[in-house]
Amino acid sequence: ETPTSEIRKGLAGVVADHSAISKVNPETNSLLYRGYPVQDLAARASFEEVAYLLWHGDLPTSDQLEEQTKAERAARALPENVKAAILELPAGCHPMDVCRTAVSQLGAHDPQAEDSSPEAELAKALRLWAVMPAVVALDQRRRRGQEIVPPRDDLGYSANFLWMTFGEEAEPAVVKAFEASMVLYAEHSFNASTFTARVITSTLSDLHSAVTGAIGALKGPLHGGANEAVQETFEEIGTADKAVAWLDEALASKRKIMGFGHRVYKKGDSRVPTMRAVLGDLVEHYGETEVLDLYDTLEQAMGERKGIKPNLDYPAGPAYHLMGFDTNIFTPLFVASRITGWTAHIMEQRASNALIRPVCEYNGPDERQVP
Ligand code: SDX
Repeated sequence: ETPTSEIRKGLAGVVADHSAISKVNPETNSLLYRGYPVQDLAARASFEEVAYLLWHGDLPTSDQLEEQTKAERAARALPENVKAAILELPAGCHPMDVCRTAVSQLGAHDPQAEDSSPEAELAKALRLWAVMPAVVALDQRRRRGQEIVPPRDDLGYSANFLWMTFGEEAEPAVVKAFEASMVLYAEHSFNASTFTARVITSTLSDLHSAVTGAIGALKGPLHGGANEAVQETFEEIGTADKAVAWLDEALASKRKIMGFGHRVYKKGDSRVPTMRAVLGDLVEHYGETEVLDLYDTLEQAMGERKGIKPNLDYPAGPAYHLMGFDTNIFTPLFVASRITGWTAHIMEQRASNALIRPVCEYNGPDERQVP
């Protein structure tokens, strides 16, 4: 194989393709979904509108939104076979394995599984998006020994997600905070899990296989698994007065501090100010101010020592903890949101496909004869 350029480990900085779905600009520390700044969408659009925007390229008219909402609400209930498959899984397995298994199960049962026409891809994307909250909610409740709560079709996506998870109607401030997190987590160009979905799609494999692979990639703590790891870090540190000593010890033992750093953003993650404000609203709502002391102390110490800034997972972790989610459910929440971005990229890849297959520079043994 003749390599065309020097090796870029981790494909850092390699431009692999065009994409019209989102624009990450580290220079201006900004993120656009189909041209709209994500901060504005988080403040003024519903997650349902953002899902439509990512799939179709424009914000929906009221008729288009109504049609999508009807279809989404009709597809929220978990099929019996998926419920049975999840309940078969040990309560001790990771909830990301439950998401991965559920998507595989859904794919095997989906009548359009092998139909990759644009209409079928869109219909499958919407069905997966609609049903993931029921998967995640069921998993938290079964681990807590609680009864399964069926979806309601008189609540929006976020309010229903919270209803199924906690068995009661969430207060408007909590729904608003959760909705903002869904908008912020939805899409982020060629991140590892999205690129995984594109690699799988590029062989002309099916949408459910691509999403299953993406879930596998997102599980890792260097990627989506970081939001769970941030909460674990907070619990390991305890109180704000212990943060600096903890950090010095962690950095001395070469640990990666979860929720900090980013492959693309180097002046901070464009989504953090919005999610930090959401965390502040939740702290106000629940009256739990000490989490902000720890949050700010660790952020400042990390800035002083390494000049590394938080990414979206840093405020998202404690925010989900305040909302009452179990820590190991945090990354499945990321899955529920990123289903929209992943499937938008799957459709974009398919629309102008080329098999993704890089080359490597061989550094194994020279040719030799079999004795
Ligand atoms: C997400 O790509 C996306 O868009 C992802 C995402 C999305 O929306 O899809 O934004 C979501 O995954 C956010 C990232 C969540 N991950 C974490 O919070 C895990 C902790 N972060 C690090 O592992 C790291 O910052 C990465 C993996 C996110 C990025 O790392 P890079 O670009 O591969 O850079 P690197 O690991 O080579 O670090 C460069 C230097 C190293 O120091 P040296 O070895 O050169 O001395 O900075 C150091 C690193 O050790 N460093 C850190 C650090 N991040 C970088 N040191 C301690 N703690 C960290 N968090």
